[in-house]
Amino acid sequence: MKKIILTGDRPTGRLHLGHYVGSIKRRVELQNTDAFDEIYIMIADSQALTDNFDNPQKIRDNVIEVALDYLACGIDPKKANIFIQSTVDALTELTFYYMNLVTLSRLQRNPTVKNEIKMRGFEKSIPVGFLNYPISQAADITAFEATCVPVGDDQLPMLEQTREIVRSFNNIYGETLVEPEAYVGENEISRRLPGIDGKAKMSKSLGNCIYLADDEETIRKKVMQMYTDPNHINISDPGRVEGNVVFTYLDVFATDADFAKYLPEFKNLVDLKAHYEQGGVGDVTIKKFLNNVLQDVLRPIREKRKEYSQNIELVYDILEEGSKKAQVKANETLAKVKEAMQIDYFNGDKFKNEIKAKYE
Ligand code: TRP
Repeated sequence: MKKIILTGDRPTGRLHLGHYVGSIKRRVELQNTDAFDEIYIMIADSQALTDNFDNPQKIRDNVIEVALDYLACGIDPKKANIFIQSTVDALTELTFYYMNLVTLSRLQRNPTVKNEIKMRGFEKSIPVGFLNYPISQAADITAFEATCVPVGDDQLPMLEQTREIVRSFNNIYGETLVEPEAYVGENEISRRLPGIDGKAKMSKSLGNCIYLADDEETIRKKVMQMYTDPNHINISDPGRVEGNVVFTYLDVFATDADFAKYLPEFKNLVDLKAHYEQGGVGDVTIKKFLNNVLQDVLRPIREKRKEYSQNIELVYDILEEGSKKAQVKANETLAKVKEAMQIDYFNGDKFKNEIKAKYE
């Protein structure tokens, strides 16, 4: 069986550091293993419209921003097809057929959807399209016969729902669809990078993000604002490392080489933490260090983003090319699905011969 990756993001804003460590970085690593036969990275505009249907301009604007972020992070269009969801008609058709296989109560039980309904104030009245999006996500995944879906943990319920749809479809109509596996990274903190306020996961709606496209000064300001330990007032006071966002980020990003380069008074993070807890290390010291570390991570991404943005017609071509390839693949799966469901009337002479045998 072919090894195929399908994953994607809703284009509701630019991508941030949480997206990067939570999923994009891993996608690039997977891409570069060359262990996959096909890779599809989808800009999920149709799904983004399920709760932004009244703001199509926002989605349209962000399609190109997300494409730039992908390319900037190292998604390689020679290895991965980057495509726009709404250009692949077969996905909506598949969704329609899968809807027969899922009950309303099953959709309402999906924990991610439940949480999103609450956050969007949809409790009283849920648009059908929104409630339905896990089914459309099953169409996205199965259309590409994905075996591997690299996502953040909030997407695990979608994968579970997809696997149920696959099993149910194959049970009723015969072995047709491929059951996907989710792929989440093993690093807990990377998967849930907190925002700069330390309150929750980094999230656009909470305004606590460092964006991949942020310039050097913006990044510096955001690091300087970061939540640390509110009781660490004087440098000589003992400080807390747990719940201190600067240390959470250092856990994710700082290497021993960074210490040698920017903070040689300390051997490594264990050493720095010990001194911070003892007292004697100021927040400005740790923030300056984190700023240096993050600038090194984000500078190459920002520069690559700028190069692509100065060659925007190339990005357009990449999206068009990727979308065309995605259409071909999804149409092949749709044909298999329709054949399995016996709704392939004009595909060859099978139906013609059947009715002739019956009535001639
Ligand atoms: N739900 C994903 C998000 O909110 C986007 C998405 C749509 C997706 N279809 C997908 C992710 C299929 C993985 C596989 O970011």
